[in-house]
Amino acid sequence: MSDLDSILQPIADAIKKGKKVTFFNGAGISTSAGIPDFRSPESGLYANLAKLNLPFAEAVFDLDFFMENPQPFYTLASELYPGSFAPTKFHQMIKLLQDQNSLSRVYTQNIDTLERLAGVEDKYIVEAHGSFATNHCVQCHSEMDTETLKKDMKENRIPSCRSCEGYVKPDIVFFGEGLPKSFFKTWSKDSKHVEIAIVAGTSLTVQPFAFLPSEVGKKALRILINKEKVGDFKHHPRKSDIIVLNDCDLIAEKLCGLLGIEDKLNELYEKGKSKYSKPETKEELVHDIEEKLKSEANLKQKEPSEEQEETTPKKEDKEEEELTDLVDKLKI
Ligand code: APR
Repeated sequence: MSDLDSILQPIADAIKKGKKVTFFNGAGISTSAGIPDFRSPESGLYANLAKLNLPFAEAVFDLDFFMENPQPFYTLASELYPGSFAPTKFHQMIKLLQDQNSLSRVYTQNIDTLERLAGVEDKYIVEAHGSFATNHCVQCHSEMDTETLKKDMKENRIPSCRSCEGYVKPDIVFFGEGLPKSFFKTWSKDSKHVEIAIVAGTSLTVQPFAFLPSEVGKKALRILINKEKVGDFKHHPRKSDIIVLNDCDLIAEKLCGLLGIEDKLNELYEKGKSKYSKPETKEELVHDIEEKLKSEANLKQKEPSEEQEETTPKKEDKEEEELTDLVDKLKI
């Protein structure tokens, strides 16, 4: 058994005994989907927002700044808008735990809705920092449907309220806004009943979410899956804490391996990837097909030359012909 397996074994044993998992997720669980997190030194969003010439990085999610200048947020929103990112293995693990009745709740700070896209049901999800699911005017609070908002964004217009012309923004919780009431209501019910707390991909820097893991009852088994030690895992670790400073997806694979559901995980992941990841551009498609043609031509050259009777063209020849036609058509 590998070191990682032995470290994770107590979590797997608890789940096999019927204990349920409460997740506390941050942006780190979506980085392998292609969505940058916020505070990682080089790759984090806040390290790369300089091109939006903001007074300070978090201004992109600051309500006062948005009221003055909503453009930086919408520049970012057009990059991050859900729909072209596929759930990661970590998200798919949550779905599998739900399917085997081992899931209690998912508290997420993420606005990418990837837990939902992985198939986790609404009743388990608490989006502490809101999401792109709905949109409201920041002046009169009237709602705007997503189609209208996306149309304005597509036409490079800042979505504005049809009744008072105020700026409209998706219901993502900005700095300066309160968290959804449902967050506090659900947490007051859940906090003392957490059996297994999986804290993953978060720097635990933004309150009140950052407090949650420290508020779970003493009987809970807690695990931090993160690239760095954070929160009270760092400052006041509990004797029973498990700390794995490693990649979320790798640990998802290992844990599913111990639960005997690794094949299901990989199958779900591949299905999600083909359904959601970004479609290839036409140029990429032409390039891929030409590469395929080239490699097939090389393969054929290596085949032993043999007297070929006059027979119907080989299957590969037919395929090659079709691919060549397709490339010619795409090049038009
Ligand atoms: N595997 C494990 N850990 C990872 C991975 C990965 N593949 N990628 C990144 N991490 C870790 C980073 O080391 C970091 O500790 O995930 C953490 C991400 O931290 P942040 O970027 O601060 O993201 P998050 O904690 O979700 O931010 C909280 O801040 O700006 C606000 O509203 C925003 O919800 C966000 C909140």
